[in-house]
Amino acid sequence: MESFATATAVPNPTPAPFDVAVVEPDPALRTRLSVELAGAAQFETMEDLVQQLDPTRAVVAVFGPGFASPIGFQHVHRVTSSHSSLGVVFAVYELSTDVLQQALRAGARDAVVIGGEANLNQSVDRVGELLAGATSLRTQAPSTRTGEPGRLVSVFSTKGGVGKTCIAINVAAAMAKRSAEPVVLVDGDLQFGDVSVMLGLPSANTVLDAAAAVQYGDLELAQTLTSKDPTTGLLVLPAPLESMPPDALLPGEMVNICAALQAIAGHVVIDLPSVFNDYVLAIIEASDEVLLVGSMDIPSIKNLKIGMQQLDLQAIAGPKLKLVLNHANAKVKLDVKEIERVLGLSANFPVPDDIAVPISVNAGRPVVVAEPKSPVARALDCIAESLVGSTPTVKKGRRGK
Ligand SMILES: Nc1ncnc2c1ncn2[C@@H]1O[C@H](COP(=O)(O)OP(=O)(O)OP(=O)(O)O)[C@@H](O)[C@H]1O
Ligand SMILES: [Mg+2]
Repeated sequence: MESFATATAVPNPTPAPFDVAVVEPDPALRTRLSVELAGAAQFETMEDLVQQLDPTRAVVAVFGPGFASPIGFQHVHRVTSSHSSLGVVFAVYELSTDVLQQALRAGARDAVVIGGEANLNQSVDRVGELLAGATSLRTQAPSTRTGEPGRLVSVFSTKGGVGKTCIAINVAAAMAKRSAEPVVLVDGDLQFGDVSVMLGLPSANTVLDAAAAVQYGDLELAQTLTSKDPTTGLLVLPAPLESMPPDALLPGEMVNICAALQAIAGHVVIDLPSVFNDYVLAIIEASDEVLLVGSMDIPSIKNLKIGMQQLDLQAIAGPKLKLVLNHANAKVKLDVKEIERVLGLSANFPVPDDIAVPISVNAGRPVVVAEPKSPVARALDCIAESLVGSTPTVKKGRRGK
């Protein structure tokens, strides 16, 4: 058995604020992982690791495939729930939804595939920095709002590529300009989430870190994990760095993350994927407002109609549904009244098609910031106004469920 003091192979003039350990019964694999992690301390069993833990020193432990079993997850859960200075990353041969869910449930902060695309070192560094900073972060934790929780606004469509992410980012950014309280933007698309790319944000903590924090019952930590976007003032919680299955989080988990954020923000806006699963439905049910995005073309409207019926969206969301007709343009020659009749919704929010949108996406600056006077920015601001009000306010009133 090793200790952390003897483990580091390369002397480092600026020691990391955390130690790294590999825990795996197979000696060859243990050594391989340790070498990949520049001489991390090696432990054959969980007990060996626990003996070396010091509550004042952060440790990131990489658990090998030998722990990716029901009993292994149970052991890891036991140790993560009793040692707050320990951050766990699983290194496995195959990362199925099931393994990922069990790892997160066991309190792991990440899971990577051995020899896969995601870099184990990067994952360990991210978890280590998060852990080492957690104490200082907690002292600067944003103040919890008194009274009512902030409102949850989800942006959804039954069809991909209709502009959900652009609308979520721009409406949230316009809300941040109008609101006296923080506005949080959550990327709920675990598979293809591109909010941070569209905002040009560097990689940071993600919804997976927040899921682990909520899993630990550490809501205060979850609240500190957002990154402030300097251009819009939004607090952003990005999607995982590596694409995850669309239901990698259990239905209630994202709702719990949002609830933690609603305690510190006036509004939480969540960009959802166009998939029909319990994860998405749970968020729609928990939302106070649902922006349902359709594109002004016949296939999109037909798809929206069928999807709404399949999901029984009217029954689930009813009056919370607000139809946003993107790419709305007189030249398209679609009758808005006819669309309203087919969908059974008023099209209060048309958003014109404008080349300024893709230009702003490529520049990493939302169009409501880059071109605030453009017709498209004004249309997006109208949606924000309907959600926040016309002047900066401290919101009162009941939640409209
Ligand atoms: N009003 C608009 N005018 C012009 N281009 C737009 C408009 N809205 C969105 N776009 C463009 O449409 C493309 C798709 O937008 P976006 O990524 O927001 O769609 P999405 O519904 O989130 O897609 P996905 O289902 O893949 O998540 C982007 O290239 C964006 O620039
Ligand atoms: Mg999107």
